[in-house]
Amino acid sequence: MKKICIIGISGKLGQYMAEHALARGYDVVGVCRPQSVAKLSRFAGQIRIFPGRTDEREVIRAAVADCDAVLTVLVPWGVQGYATQTAQAVLDFAPAEARLVFSCGWHISRDGKDRYSWQLRLFVALFGRVARWLRLADLSDQEEACRRVFNSQHRWTVVRGSDLEEGESEGLPRWSEHVGDAVLASNLTRRTDFALFMVEAISNAELIHKAPAIVGCLSASALGDV
Ligand SMILES: NC(=O)c1ccc[n+]([C@@H]2O[C@H](COP(=O)([O-])OP(=O)(O)OC[C@H]3O[C@@H](n4cnc5c(N)ncnc54)[C@H](OP(=O)(O)O)[C@@H]3O)[C@@H](O)[C@H]2O)c1
Repeated sequence: MKKICIIGISGKLGQYMAEHALARGYDVVGVCRPQSVAKLSRFAGQIRIFPGRTDEREVIRAAVADCDAVLTVLVPWGVQGYATQTAQAVLDFAPAEARLVFSCGWHISRDGKDRYSWQLRLFVALFGRVARWLRLADLSDQEEACRRVFNSQHRWTVVRGSDLEEGESEGLPRWSEHVGDAVLASNLTRRTDFALFMVEAISNAELIHKAPAIVGCLSASALGDV
């Protein structure tokens, strides 16, 4: 049985990933803040939890040991480099041969060839400034975290999520190399399917060293209706 670690397992995306991973027979361990352990009570007896902030290096070191894959929710909370320190700890301590899959938003660009709508650019500019001014979040932190992943020698994938919605699974999202590609125009994915894509990426060698941008498989653009 393959052992996988989910970093940020108590969040919405993390819990969906745990469900999909267990359904596929993976041995699941996870890291979440101590105050969030109770959010995982429905998984009691099925997963092992390492309580701790995801930027605590010793917690990550213990959690990722012997893992075949590490799925990391990159969140830019605060202004102290939370996402960057989380990613760095995973890169430093995950076994060299492990599959590493990270989550972020469409605003992250690997090669600068993404073409963004004015709405997305405006949102990132406004949200980024306000969140940083309030010291709630720092979007440049997620950018730096991803830069470090892109430059690493690990077998990584950075999954770039569109806007998200709740609801039943529609199936594995479609993906494309660049935001602006026609298939992505609908800009909407079920959160459970974002998680599904991350779990499926573990065994998809085509996605190694790629930063796929995803969209719901039943969205209008994925069906070719836009
Ligand atoms: N529209 C969208 O929401 C959207 C769109 C595209 C991509 N994404 C990507 O999706 C991922 C997040 O998704 P999600 O749905 O799982 O979000 P979420 O449920 O809101 O939480 C994500 C993580 O943030 C942690 N967290 C919350 N408050 C924190 C704090 N003050 N300090 C440290 N950690 C804190 C949560 O831990 P606790 O359980 O301990 O609170 C959880 O692990 C990110 O990678 C994001 O870039 C989101």
